[in-house]
Amino acid sequence: GPQSTERGLDKQQNLDAARNDPAGHHLTTDQGVRVAQTDDSLRAGDRGPTLLEDFHAREKITRFDHERIPERVVHARGAGAYGRFRVYESMADVTRADFLQDPELETPVFVRFSTVAGSRGSADTVRDVRGFATKFYTRQGNYDLVGNNFPVFFIQDGIKFPDFVHSVKPEPNNEMPQAASAHDTFWDFVSLQPEAMHTVMWLMSDRAIPRSYRMMQGFGVHTFRFVNAAGQGTFVKFHWRPLLGVHSLVWDEAQKCAGKDPDFNRRDLWTAIENGQYPEWELGVQLVSEDDEHAFDFDLLDATKIIPEEQVPVRPIGRMVLDRNPDNFFAETEQIAFHTANVVPGIDFTNDPLLQARNFSYLDTQLIRLGGPNFAQLPVNRPVARVTNNQRDGYGQQDIHVGQANYTPNSLNPGGCPVTASPDAGAFVHYTETVSGRTIRERSPSFQDFYSQATLFWNSMADWEREHIVAAFRFELGKCEHRHVRERAVDRINEIDHDLAVAVARGIGVDEPTAATTNHGRSSPALSMANLAGDSVR
Ligand code: HEM
Repeated sequence: GPQSTERGLDKQQNLDAARNDPAGHHLTTDQGVRVAQTDDSLRAGDRGPTLLEDFHAREKITRFDHERIPERVVHARGAGAYGRFRVYESMADVTRADFLQDPELETPVFVRFSTVAGSRGSADTVRDVRGFATKFYTRQGNYDLVGNNFPVFFIQDGIKFPDFVHSVKPEPNNEMPQAASAHDTFWDFVSLQPEAMHTVMWLMSDRAIPRSYRMMQGFGVHTFRFVNAAGQGTFVKFHWRPLLGVHSLVWDEAQKCAGKDPDFNRRDLWTAIENGQYPEWELGVQLVSEDDEHAFDFDLLDATKIIPEEQVPVRPIGRMVLDRNPDNFFAETEQIAFHTANVVPGIDFTNDPLLQARNFSYLDTQLIRLGGPNFAQLPVNRPVARVTNNQRDGYGQQDIHVGQANYTPNSLNPGGCPVTASPDAGAFVHYTETVSGRTIRERSPSFQDFYSQATLFWNSMADWEREHIVAAFRFELGKCEHRHVRERAVDRINEIDHDLAVAVARGIGVDEPTAATTNHGRSSPALSMANLAGDSVR
């Protein structure tokens, strides 16, 4: 059963079996044979050839040759830590998620922060989105909240993700540049795919150069669904708020840090935890009843939109503290596998087409990245909940499954086969949503407003924040060599705000646009992103 202490579940105890501390032990081969000499290979004669029978030398070099695995296809560079989460009060009215019922229960977590575009060895302080992925090791199985530090995303449908990432990654002919938003392919794509413009505004803002992972918000981005014991659903958006406040670098600092200490954000997280300055986040939720699904002037299933906090306030529901660095970067931070489809009873999906694609993509990529189907058995991924099923074999199988029969139903194993559970016994049951309609590919008309919230974001900025945004557009777009792409990007910015577009145009050598004729201002002018843009400081 689940491993627990009086404080709650103990993931550390669960990891102990895998810890390998060399202190006080002899050097051995992988077979446990003690090694007498590891500095010279076995040779025939003083100056003769190396002998094949030197199994230690061969094993040592072979193991070295196989040390690398593919880096993540996105979010390759990151840093992570263990911690704990505790809910403030029972959330039973909206969700039956076990880890959200009892304020006395501590749930262990692992969080990985990351940049998106750069490769594993790239610098921390680049202009980019940051990943904020949390694995909750709950009594009812692992729940992964795989979020970012922006509340919105560049595309509405996951089928565009390969295109988007190809445009963001270094260009295919010469693998330049590392910087995600400073090249032609990025601006070409986002200006042709204007649903990206809201998130582009966030990317050009100070939010894209966080001073510290400890000072970043996190967002689930999609609208998810809470489900309570009665089977009733409630839409939910997740927010992490750092107790240290939201702080950014300025661009000049970011560039200097990238040169002088490419590990700037990593080191900050590691050192704070080593020094006992444990970073904390409050988990908040925006809850929307199913009756209000269509009460907004945007679609809740559209991941390029926020729900303004004036319309739905964020309710704080719990707190997370990160208090333990990993022992081994590769084993833990690199091999952890997050997946949006890792949900527990009480948390379910919506039909957000970006989320639906993610629910396919993560497991698929991990099957290749982590070398086969058994990566859930790796120490960092292993649930504290008991795992019992008839899934078998495969590369890297760690479990010794006992019994004659591995199918269901069966009557041959003593005690019978593992039995399915009722929802009362903690079984996951998919939400019984009613769906209807024809099979179509056309994007829903409710997804067609690309600019209102980009304008809302711009209107919510203080003067100094606007100056930073203009400077960022000029710097990044200024690296774009194709004039027609720069012009098209300015046209898109002009749909957001004319003054902004003029200011950008002046800095990148294209003609100033005339005022846009379309009026996208569908959102109420009373709304702002003040809460969200909140306590960000200079
Ligand atoms: C990795 C967030 C959209 C595919 C990640 C990671 C985060 C993240 C935080 C890093 C996980 C880690 O630390 O190991 C998001 C968010 C999205 C989004 C917030 C939009 C709201 C997508 C989409 C797809 C996708 C649409 C594909 C259709 C991937 C893949 C990885 C990844 C393949 C690498 C996973 C691995 O190798 O373990 N994403 N992502 N993501 N994401 Fe996303």
